[in-house]
Amino acid sequence: MKRASVGLVLLLQLMPSINCILDRSQFPDSFLFGTATSSYQIEGAYLADNKSLSIWDLFTKIPGNIRDGSNGDIAVDHYHRYMEDVELMHSLGVNSYRFSISWPRVLPSGRFGEINHAGIEFYNKLINALIHKGIQPFVTLNHWDIPQELENRYGTWLNPQIQEDFGYFADVCFRAFGDRVKYWVTINEPNLTVLFGYFTGQYPPHHCSKLVGECQPGDSKTEPYIAAHNVILSHATAVGIYRKKYQVEQKGMIGIVLNAFWYEPLRNLPADRLAVQRALSFYVAWILDPIIYGEYPPEMRKLLGSSLPTFSLEEKKKLENKLDFIGINHYTTLYAKDCMFSPCDFDSHQWLWNASVWFTAERNGIPVGVPTAMPRFHVVPYGLEKIVSYVKERYNNTPMFITENGYPQGSNHNVSTEDLINDSGRVEYLSNYLDSLTVAMKHGADIRGYFIWSLLDNFEWSFGYTLRFGLYHVDFNTLERMPKLSAEWYKQFLTGTNALKEKGSKS
Ligand code: NOJ
Repeated sequence: MKRASVGLVLLLQLMPSINCILDRSQFPDSFLFGTATSSYQIEGAYLADNKSLSIWDLFTKIPGNIRDGSNGDIAVDHYHRYMEDVELMHSLGVNSYRFSISWPRVLPSGRFGEINHAGIEFYNKLINALIHKGIQPFVTLNHWDIPQELENRYGTWLNPQIQEDFGYFADVCFRAFGDRVKYWVTINEPNLTVLFGYFTGQYPPHHCSKLVGECQPGDSKTEPYIAAHNVILSHATAVGIYRKKYQVEQKGMIGIVLNAFWYEPLRNLPADRLAVQRALSFYVAWILDPIIYGEYPPEMRKLLGSSLPTFSLEEKKKLENKLDFIGINHYTTLYAKDCMFSPCDFDSHQWLWNASVWFTAERNGIPVGVPTAMPRFHVVPYGLEKIVSYVKERYNNTPMFITENGYPQGSNHNVSTEDLINDSGRVEYLSNYLDSLTVAMKHGADIRGYFIWSLLDNFEWSFGYTLRFGLYHVDFNTLERMPKLSAEWYKQFLTGTNALKEKGSKS
């Protein structure tokens, strides 16, 4: 491993295109720099120590759902290797780590059964190991793995009962870990999971509209809205519990994390500029407006009328719990085209159907940025500054964290291990996106932290193990972890010893 690192340092010094101006000192000392993961994607041990099955444990076993037919049964075995992984983080020099708690590990039957003490113990050990190394835990309560039993009993997000279950789960976690955890995220990217779970059917519970291929037919005209409504109220329930029972004593912050692309108008036309605004409202503000302002975005209400649920007085009261920060997961930028006043080619995965917006990554055959191994993910660094500015303006500069930003590579089938380790594309991506973040901060955006997705290569949902986002390469057969060039770059950036600075001082 040592020999590999020396080679990587040299390689880093030879890279002509890394951003030389970027420096740790451009960020406040209190700024959190970390890496991010989620329980289902890394833990494995899917049946260990009384854990029950999650909706993802079942969904991945249905042929056709996952590109390489894989699942998270073993994933990268973080459950047994967490100490090694904490060491990796420590060697990077990060001061925070974003991870999630597996709900079925802690509460195998939700509120209908006992707390699983083995699950609590696992997270206690992880949290203690992090704190011992000076790494602040930044904890997501739900990153998509919900106990299957709750889906069987009442249909999770489609049923208001989920609010009580989620509140109960949150309460158990605040009580068990809140003395040491000062940053809580209620739910990860609900805007994406609601669309993938109830419109396109790419994620569990696999409901979809008739427009979109093979899945369990659901009513896509109502289900995404109902699911989002329950997501928003579940968030509010958990925040309410935190505010009432824990926050004064534990002195932490609590927020929610959204998937947030940036969009550019496809054509220089007012209709496409309006399409950009609609896409942002119907995707990001859909969840954030109710949490922050107590109502769905006016743009959505105007177009959708009574298809969109309304908040009762009691629900509005709950929404007063709001949030303390907004988490932004940002990866890429797409072009948006209007479909309200002009015709479009409808393809479910390229289409925000209810906003009449169509997305494409190309204009006149020219991609919006450098393509990556993931369809539709292009490298467009300025998109980070733009989305941050949008959120800043719309929500009065509420504190923000960049809870995910990262670069996908193809799997070993198409790319050699050596190329995967020498991930200069990722180094360029990360340094240029971070640079774009500094621009937003110079313009006053209240950004408190930045997390790279991901610490390790891991299970990438419907793509299985065919895409890799890690700073550390994982051999999926032996589970050996190896630093990539990007790990070396992050370390140098965090310790202020950027190879290029050294190079610069020599010349
Ligand atoms: C966002 C999700 O939160 C994470 O789980 C996923 O792996 C990354 N996007 C990359 O697609």
